[in-house]
Amino acid sequence: MKVLSGIQPTGAIHWGNYFGAIQQYIALQNNEQAFYFIANLHALNQVRDAAKLHEYTFEMAIDLLALGLDPNKATLFVQSDVPEISQLCWILLTGAPMGLLERCVAYKDKVAKGQPADAGLFTYPVLQAADILAYDSDTVPVGADQVQHIEVCRDLAGSFNHQFGQTFVMPKAHVLEASARVPGTDGEKMSKSYNNTLAVFEDAKAQRKQIMRIVTDSRPMDQAKEPAGDVLYDLFSLVAPDADRESMAALYRRGGFGYGDIKKALADAAEKFWAEPRARRAELAAKPDQVRQILGDGAAKARKKAAEVLKRAQKACGIPA
Ligand code: TYM
Repeated sequence: MKVLSGIQPTGAIHWGNYFGAIQQYIALQNNEQAFYFIANLHALNQVRDAAKLHEYTFEMAIDLLALGLDPNKATLFVQSDVPEISQLCWILLTGAPMGLLERCVAYKDKVAKGQPADAGLFTYPVLQAADILAYDSDTVPVGADQVQHIEVCRDLAGSFNHQFGQTFVMPKAHVLEASARVPGTDGEKMSKSYNNTLAVFEDAKAQRKQIMRIVTDSRPMDQAKEPAGDVLYDLFSLVAPDADRESMAALYRRGGFGYGDIKKALADAAEKFWAEPRARRAELAAKPDQVRQILGDGAAKARKKAAEVLKRAQKACGIPA
């Protein structure tokens, strides 16, 4: 299996990022090839402040390492350190149908809200396709929101292969059903743009406060409730051990519980679950040179592979390589 995925450095990493994608990065890092990168070129669409983009990019590397990404197994790098991606993106842009990109949700939503969208947002899925195809990846671990982009990538690869001969490997999205769409504190998909995130590297006390403020329904105390689909239960089931999850589900079905107690149980489980990575993060943050070295080594490895695939694509379509 050849695995690849990317994450945008647009601010603090949240539970949705971890359970939807990063836990899969870690689980799949023993594969023949695992490439994980920090998508700073994509983030430039949103982060329009040079110092912030620098900071978020480096902090994201520390976050991923603290969560268990092992540079001895997987290759970790920054997207812009592989300029071949932008070259490959151009080649793919030349065959990308407008209609296909117009149907992509990020762009469509912005236009529907009457907000101005730029060409960077419009062509975002093509850059993502270049990311995936440049490493001959066949497996892309992501949350459900990215599946459409992987489909666009498959369309672009398929039509290039059809026109110019077999060049690109067909990738597949790898989505974990149980955490494909982690809810935020308001029940919508957890997302920075909805302002409903729980940050992974949050101070435990501050996170407890956030959890206690989650708005719940006005169900009477004695009434039983189906656990799945309830925000508190869904979040609890991500961070609690299996046995606790089962007893919590039984409690919901029995009724007679108050949401205050559930919130407390959720905050306790979260504090336990994140304690280790939070401690590890503090250690790594004190060794920035080591992190820089990991990113430098990763970029060299990634570039080598991307250059090989770019050359193949250039040759196929008649550009001197
Ligand atoms: P990004 O930075 O928005 O999110 C990173 C990963 O986190 C997942 N995710 C979620 N999963 C479940 N529930 C949620 N609430 C939730 N929120 C975020 C996302 O699905 C994603 O896997 N376009 C990508 C970055 C990218 C990329 C790539 C990914 C650029 N090139 C190539 C894969 C392959 C993005 O915006 O992810």
